[in-house]
Amino acid sequence: MQAPPRKMPRRNPLLPLFLLPISALVLAWPASCTADPVPVLFPVAKDPATSLYTIPVRDGASHVIDLAGPLLWSTCDDDHLPANISCRDRLCKLANAYRAPSCGGGVAGHPCSKRCKAYPYNPVTGRCAAADLVHTRLVANTTDGRNPLSQVPVRAVAACAPRTLLDHRLPRDATGVAGLSAAGLALPAQVATSQRVANANAFLLCLPRSGSGDGVAVFGGRGPFFLKLFVTGEPSSGDLTRTLQFAPLRSRPGNPLYYVPVSGVAVGRAPVPLPPRALAAGGVVLCTRVPYTALRPDVYRPVVEAFDRGLVRSDMRVAAVPPFEFCYNRTLLPPTRLGYGVPEIALLLEGGKQEWTFVGSSSMVDVDARTACLALLEMKGVKAGDPSAAAVVVGGFQMEDHLLQFDLDKKQLGFARVPIPSACSNFNFTRGRQ
Ligand SMILES: *[C@@H]1O[C@H](CO)[C@@H](O)[C@H](O)[C@H]1NC(C)=O
Ligand SMILES: *[C@@H]1O[C@H](CO)[C@@H](O)[C@H](O)[C@H]1NC(C)=O
Ligand SMILES: *[C@@H]1O[C@H](CO)[C@@H](O)[C@H](O)[C@H]1NC(C)=O
Ligand SMILES: *[C@@H]1O[C@H](CO)[C@@H](O)[C@H](O)[C@H]1NC(C)=O
Repeated sequence: MQAPPRKMPRRNPLLPLFLLPISALVLAWPASCTADPVPVLFPVAKDPATSLYTIPVRDGASHVIDLAGPLLWSTCDDDHLPANISCRDRLCKLANAYRAPSCGGGVAGHPCSKRCKAYPYNPVTGRCAAADLVHTRLVANTTDGRNPLSQVPVRAVAACAPRTLLDHRLPRDATGVAGLSAAGLALPAQVATSQRVANANAFLLCLPRSGSGDGVAVFGGRGPFFLKLFVTGEPSSGDLTRTLQFAPLRSRPGNPLYYVPVSGVAVGRAPVPLPPRALAAGGVVLCTRVPYTALRPDVYRPVVEAFDRGLVRSDMRVAAVPPFEFCYNRTLLPPTRLGYGVPEIALLLEGGKQEWTFVGSSSMVDVDARTACLALLEMKGVKAGDPSAAAVVVGGFQMEDHLLQFDLDKKQLGFARVPIPSACSNFNFTRGRQ
């Protein structure tokens, strides 16, 4: 994408000609060397009321993370100065490359007026509004993957949404949304451009569990990435990006969702019989907007029944606790180092060579002192096999305490479970030495 215009020192028109090559060099120097070309990090919080994840971008104000979001947007002061971006400008085309269905019309439906408008939307309600674009500076810490190092400004273009776009279904303190999709004006591409990290339009996401403290997001790089371990003699987990497995990361034209091609689902190491092409139709998407993984009815039923049959004893099931259907007596579930000892649920990745496995700590949620439930939901309002609906939407809970590497250049997803006893909340936020 094109960088927002930056202030360049004006060249003196009286400068003797012979000095020009040197002065051009001197003038070009700061542009390439002042900002360290290193990734930046943001702490990631989980809002207990909504289960949404937020990062403090734009003056430290909290923004909801939306993996499928194409823009960075927030409410602005009423007297904000709109950026003078023509609707024919490349930035304007980037801002409008994806338009939520609720925004109507598509680009063609909105004739080019003088100044560019963007159409931010609320990822929870789907509500959309016309908005000005503004040039802004985010403040973030650079990182070596172990600690925050030093604060740097990150140039970005954001949309100024009306206050009506915020809603009680967003966290109380949220002032906007940080889109993390592969779109040109989403946060990852903007950080990569501002930080001048060549070929590193990639980011790492380590989402925290409720009540465990902040996780972390690192933009503008592929790693390394370390967490504190708290095991005797072992101060750090080692570089967790070395433990990643990889899957292709796809997107579809006109759709900012991240897709992962999945060829099957296994429960307790046995493949679950699914209707032909069930997973190809709609595919598997990653979504931080939904708290728990949702499966289309034709995929949900065989998977949850295989899980229930695969438990060590058949007398543990108790009454459902909405929104969950399969709930169990906690005192009978065997505890293990990796959560309850329940059948592993695995997404078999294209080619069957890799699998993304969810152990008890990622598949079971404690709903009260006596009950734990299988944290999978049946998609509502969707028919079995409907190809317009995803087959599986991997939600926030299942991504927590995993290191996810979204490599938008290589179109690749790296994933690894954070090794217990560490967790995404164990990033060392103490300032480190450069
Ligand atoms: C906005 O940009 C246009 C085209 O680049 C230019 O003609 C116009 O003077 C600018 N307006 C302001 C207020 O800067
Ligand atoms: C950068 O890191 C330091 C040390 O952890 C912290 O005090 C500061 O608030 C951070 N700045 C930002 C913008 O996150
Ligand atoms: C759970 O199991 C324990 C131990 O067998 C039993 O005492 C208790 O009544 C069970 N609770 C429910 C709700 O079934
Ligand atoms: C956290 O980082 C600081 C700065 O590098 C270091 O001094 C400290 O030992 C680290 N803490 C842990 C628990 O690794």
